Amino acid sequence: MPKPKYHVLVCTTDRPPGNPRGSCGEKGSKEELLPAFYSEMEKHMLFGQILITESSCLGPCPMGATVVVYPDGTWYKGVKASDVAEIMESHIVNGQPVERLAIPDEMWG
Ligand code: FES
Repeated sequence: MPKPKYHVLVCTTDRPPGNPRGSCGEKGSKEELLPAFYSEMEKHMLFGQILITESSCLGPCPMGATVVVYPDGTWYKGVKASDVAEIMESHIVNGQPVERLAIPDEMWG
């Protein structure tokens, strides 16, 4: 098996309603976002070229749903299923991260 070119981590952590941190799961990351990534992977025939992994909490919960793409280290915030086609086409296929969804480096302190 060849080494995947990209590794996509999708946070699917779910917390009970009312939790002050919120969670990506309550924003549909498990039911909508993750399947959308798998669907786009299939559409672009990227089997073996990318690895999509369901992840536990990645940290910036209030900004979720959170997705991280390695090896670039691009962190995406507020990702919805409707954004996945753009991420896959622009970032994964053409190597151009989607700036409007990226968490700016300055936010990491
Ligand atoms: S719950 Fe997704 S980043 Fe914390």
